[in-house]
Amino acid sequence: MRILAIETSCDDTSLAIVSCKDDMFIVEKNLVSSQIDTHALYGGVVPEIAARMHAEQIAPLLYALEIPQDGSTVDAIAVTAGPGLVPSLRVGVACATTLAVAWQKSLIAINHLEGHLYSCWLAEKPPLFPCVALLVSGGHTELIFMKDHGNYEYLGRTRDDAAGEAFDKVAKLLGLGYPGGPLISKKALEGKKDAIDFPRPMKNAISFDFSFSGLKTAVAYHVKDHPDDRPEDICASFQDAVVDILVSKTLKAVEKYQPASVLLSGGVSANISLRETLKKILSDRFPHVHYHTPPITYTTDNAAMIGVAAFFHLQKNDFADPLTLAADPNLPLSSL
Ligand code: KG4
Ligand code: ZN
Repeated sequence: MRILAIETSCDDTSLAIVSCKDDMFIVEKNLVSSQIDTHALYGGVVPEIAARMHAEQIAPLLYALEIPQDGSTVDAIAVTAGPGLVPSLRVGVACATTLAVAWQKSLIAINHLEGHLYSCWLAEKPPLFPCVALLVSGGHTELIFMKDHGNYEYLGRTRDDAAGEAFDKVAKLLGLGYPGGPLISKKALEGKKDAIDFPRPMKNAISFDFSFSGLKTAVAYHVKDHPDDRPEDICASFQDAVVDILVSKTLKAVEKYQPASVLLSGGVSANISLRETLKKILSDRFPHVHYHTPPITYTTDNAAMIGVAAFFHLQKNDFADPLTLAADPNLPLSSL
């Protein structure tokens, strides 16, 4: 079984071919055309430009996959149907539905968040259920209890900015550029994480929700009041506050829900400090809990994770109709 997967929910055009053998996923190809250099000029993603660039890139990437013209080497087509930017999503959905009709293949609609969760199935061993999943990206910060494939319960989410958005906004106010996560984490390597005691909003709240806008504002005031502080120290201290909040909440969820595994995914899971801190604290405090996070390549948006998620929909015969499938910018992560 071989799936062609398409992801265009934000500013990465990505196409992948994923197959499955003996319960292991093989990413045969995963092509990503990033638009970062273009959006960086504007300090963030411009939806109309993103959609236009997806439309320009999607056909060349499809050709680069070298699928025969009749589609005979793929068995099904998977596409991100939401959530995301609707003009961007539409490009992927139009491509996938057209190919499904032309090649007479099954179509599988995937929720982008589900794709990020399933990127953890691209790590070495498949996770054991139940899982507590921390999903941290540019648009989302969610704690999810995953009891089985396709079975999700929200534990908490951000009440304002997403974790990645906080990285992006702080990088912008420090004049570092876009996207902020990689730039801040690089600068943080040269800084002292205990230089500034930034607040940790909602860290000790009973709820599993998050809030990052107060932290971002605290950084903005600090920069204004201390113009001579080293940006490296600001980056390290800010990153430490974000990691501390994310790790504390995840540990609280582990204590309460006693999962077999913890999953960490989404663009912010590329952050080495987050990956390592969570790994260390889990192995110290919950040594029996397995920890899964995708290889760095599959942390930010990619079609391979969409292909992996599609296999589990396929097993449940959960197919979409190519004549009616529409992009949904607010598509909820619902249990199958
Ligand atoms: O998952 P993703 O590619 O797109 C969304 O679904 O949003 O995540 C992009 C986000 C951006 O906000 C970016 O700044 C953040 O992931 N990010 C990072 C790192 N690499 C990417 N955040 C912190 N540290 C990183 N190393
Ligand atoms: Zn994403």
